[in-house]
Amino acid sequence: MSKIIIKKSDPLCGSVSCSGSKNAALPILASTILTKGTSTLFNIPALTDIEHMLYILRELGGKCTRFADRVDIDFTECHGYCAPYESVSKFRGSFLLAAPLLARMGRARISMPGGCPIGNRPIDLHLKGFAALGAEVENGHGFVDLSCKKLKGAKIYLDFPSVGATENLIMAAVLAEGETVIENAAAEPEITDLADFLNAQGASISGMGSDTITICGVKELTPASYRIISDRIEAGTFMSAFAITGGSGSILNVNPLHLKPVTAKLSEMGAVITEHESSVSIDASRPLSSANIKTLPFPGFPTDMQAQFSALLCETEGTGIIVETVFENRFLHIGELNRMGANIRIDGRSSVIEGPQKLSGAKVTAFDLRGGASLVLAGLCASGETEISGVEHIERGYEHLCEKISSLGGNIFLD
Ligand code: UD1
Repeated sequence: MSKIIIKKSDPLCGSVSCSGSKNAALPILASTILTKGTSTLFNIPALTDIEHMLYILRELGGKCTRFADRVDIDFTECHGYCAPYESVSKFRGSFLLAAPLLARMGRARISMPGGCPIGNRPIDLHLKGFAALGAEVENGHGFVDLSCKKLKGAKIYLDFPSVGATENLIMAAVLAEGETVIENAAAEPEITDLADFLNAQGASISGMGSDTITICGVKELTPASYRIISDRIEAGTFMSAFAITGGSGSILNVNPLHLKPVTAKLSEMGAVITEHESSVSIDASRPLSSANIKTLPFPGFPTDMQAQFSALLCETEGTGIIVETVFENRFLHIGELNRMGANIRIDGRSSVIEGPQKLSGAKVTAFDLRGGASLVLAGLCASGETEISGVEHIERGYEHLCEKISSLGGNIFLD
C-alpha cells in the first residue's frame, strides 16, 4: 500500500493548474447514457472514482475511449440497467446512474449505497423525486429497483438541497413528458455544469444556480462536445496549502466565482487574494488570524473544504469554531490532527480549534478524501516527517497531488 511522506516545507510559491472537477464529471459521465451517439468530454480528471464510473459505463454498453483528459462515450447501445454492489460500494457517485438508466431503459436496479465514514447518506430524497415523476420504487434486499413506462413531469420540493438528488432528478426529467420544477434545489456549480452539458445537447433546463430549476422534457438529446468545469475544491485545497505554509502564488484554470465562500473566509483571516478571469492569486505571507466557519450548501462554505480549514486553523492565531451542518460525522481527521499536536475539541457537530499549535510529524491515516487532504496540509508545516496511509482515499479526488505540491516547493512524495 502506498504512503505519502511529507517533511516540513518552506512557504509554497509558484503557480499550479487545477484539474477537471470530479464532482462535475461524475454526473455528466452518467448522463451520457441518455444520449444515443458519441458524447465528447474534455477536462476529465484521471481519478479512481472516474475510472470506476467509466468501468460501469462500459459494462452497460457504452464505448468509452480516453485520450489524456478527453473521453469519448458512444451510447448508441445500452444493454444493462444494473449497478451491482461491487461497483456501488467502490464510490457513492454510482447512484447517479439511477436516473439515466431509468429514463433510457425504463428500469434501474442499483445496489443500496449504504453508510459511509462521513455519515449515513440516505437516498430518500432521490427516491421521493423518482416516485413523483411516476416511477415505481422498490427498496429492499440491498437493492433499489426503479421502473416506469414513461416518466412524467412533476413539481418536486426537496426537504434539503441535496446535490446528488438534484442531479438525479434533472437527469430523470430531461426526457420526461412535460414540465418538472425542482424547488429547494441545490445550487452548486457542478449542477449548473450538468445542466449546461444537457442543454448543449438540446435539453431545456433553466434556473440552475438558483433554488428553483425548471426542466421542460424533450424527445431526445443530440450528442455534443463539452468541457467540464475545473475543480473548485482542489483549488481551495491549494489556496489552503499556500495559506498554511505562509506562501504565495497562483491557482490557474479555475473560475473564481466558484471559490467565493473560500476566498471570503481566507480574506477575513488576512490573506490577500486577487481574482482574475480564470485564476486566483493568494499572498498569505503575513500571519493569518483564526475564524469561525459554518458549512452550508452553496453558496455557503463547502463541507468539502471543512477538513482542510481544520488543519489551517491549527496554525492561525486564536480560537476558531467550525460547525459542520451538512454531514453528521465529518470529523474523522480531527483525531489524526490531534496526534500531530493539534488542540481540537469536538462538541457535537462543532469543533473548537485552538491555534497556533506547534504540529509535529507523525504516522497518520486518511479515513476519507478531504480528511486525507487536511493531513497533507498539516504535514507541510509540521516539524519532522509525516507519513500518511490510506492514500487510496486521497487518490479518489486529487489528480497528481504530490507532484503538484512538490512543484510549488513542498517536500512531499508518494512512496
Ligand atoms: C455531493 C458531493 C460531495 C459533497 C456533498 C455536499 C459528489 C459526487 N459528491 O455529495 O463531495 O460533500 O455533495 O456538498 O458530488 N441527504 C439526505 N437524503 C438524500 C440525499 C442527501 O438526507 O436523499 C443528506 C445527506 O445525508 C447529507 C446532505 O443531505 O447529510 C447532503 O448530501 P448531498 O448534497 O446529497 O451530497 P452528495 O450528493 O452525496
